[in-house]
Amino acid sequence: MAVSGGIAAYKAAELVRLLCKQNVDVRVVMTEAAMQFVTPLTFQALSGYPVHSELLNADAENAMGHISLARWADMLLIAPATANCIAKCSHGLADDLLSTLYLAASCPVYMAPAMNQAMWSKPVTQENIQKLQAHGVKFIGPAAGEQACGETGFGRMSEPAEIVAQLLSAAAQPLAGIKVLVSAGPTREPLDPVRYITNRSSGKMGYAIARAAAKAGAQVTLVSGPVALAAPENVAVIAVETAAQMYDAVLQRASDHAIYIGAAAVADYSPAIVQPEKIKKQAQQTSLILQKTEDILAAVANLDRHPFTVGFAAETHDLENYARSKLVQKKLDMIAANWVGQAQGGFDSDQNALQVFWPEGQNTLAMTDKIQLAEQLIRLITEKFHEKNTA
Ligand code: PMT
Repeated sequence: MAVSGGIAAYKAAELVRLLCKQNVDVRVVMTEAAMQFVTPLTFQALSGYPVHSELLNADAENAMGHISLARWADMLLIAPATANCIAKCSHGLADDLLSTLYLAASCPVYMAPAMNQAMWSKPVTQENIQKLQAHGVKFIGPAAGEQACGETGFGRMSEPAEIVAQLLSAAAQPLAGIKVLVSAGPTREPLDPVRYITNRSSGKMGYAIARAAAKAGAQVTLVSGPVALAAPENVAVIAVETAAQMYDAVLQRASDHAIYIGAAAVADYSPAIVQPEKIKKQAQQTSLILQKTEDILAAVANLDRHPFTVGFAAETHDLENYARSKLVQKKLDMIAANWVGQAQGGFDSDQNALQVFWPEGQNTLAMTDKIQLAEQLIRLITEKFHEKNTA
């Protein structure tokens, strides 16, 4: 948490106390001006850690404190955020520890503004706020009411309990306000009016992912092949049947979504000719001409305005090599690889395990039920998505 110099700095002490009561690990950064209002000792006593205030301190254990603090934090709250602090952050100035920490932070940033009502309504302050909002900063407050200067209006820092409630709910819903598109289930490729080619996907993995994304606060659209599953709560389901229909449904929506997760088992080939009438049983042997379907995942990743794109790889052998080459060839942000055709996991089973790869790393999510696994995968996707968007 970072405290800039305004009279509301005294409320920041209560904020630290309430956060620590919720078992939040808090480190406090103060500007020179903030230290005129409250002593660092107050924050040290409340947080249990020394307060950071100097940008360059050759005597400190870590002279690059702003970088290590930025790497350490899961969330940065600036409270109170004065007009000066907001202006500096919106212009990318980095002349003290607070503003430098803001620039170095890749985690979600929250600001609780506090200033005189006239300063708050000044167009330049509002422009600075809009700029920061466009860069993903979330504002909590300010509230309206009587101010320390004797005036009345907007500019009072929100009450500490209100700020804590909003931070905790944001932490529980890290995808709040983010649009996520998921594809799930098999596709059916018709041969004639009664027969089709399909695969063993039940949709359980993709439905669990859609559910986990909605639970994380995302606005989720699920493009689903034919499955026997109920729609997850708070998820809009678009039902499709063929690979071509899934392609259209996904591509129509992908640019409008921040994240796409392709968990569907899309048919790689479909019959070149669909017979209008039932094919009669005559010859001893027969053959089918199949043609390649469009690769939905690759098409999404190659859009000009493409979402953070996560693919799946279903493999019976050489899982890591195939997954890595799909990651590179399809230009994905991440790929989740699973074994199929084995005793446990993969198609239809309630359980699964995933090896997840992204350009700079990998992670193994051990065998567990698909509901839990999907929540772990969504946490990983959220982390990498936020990293990419604040880079
Ligand atoms: O549905 P369940 O029974 O729960 O099983 C889950 C699952 C095994 C189906 C799921 O975890 C999974 O692995 N889904 C992807 C299956 C697949 O088609 O894998 P693939 O390696 O053949 O394809 C690679 C990626 O390309 C996938 O993200 C796939 O959605 C995508 N693809 C493939 C072909 C195509 N024409 N368009 C695509 O977008």
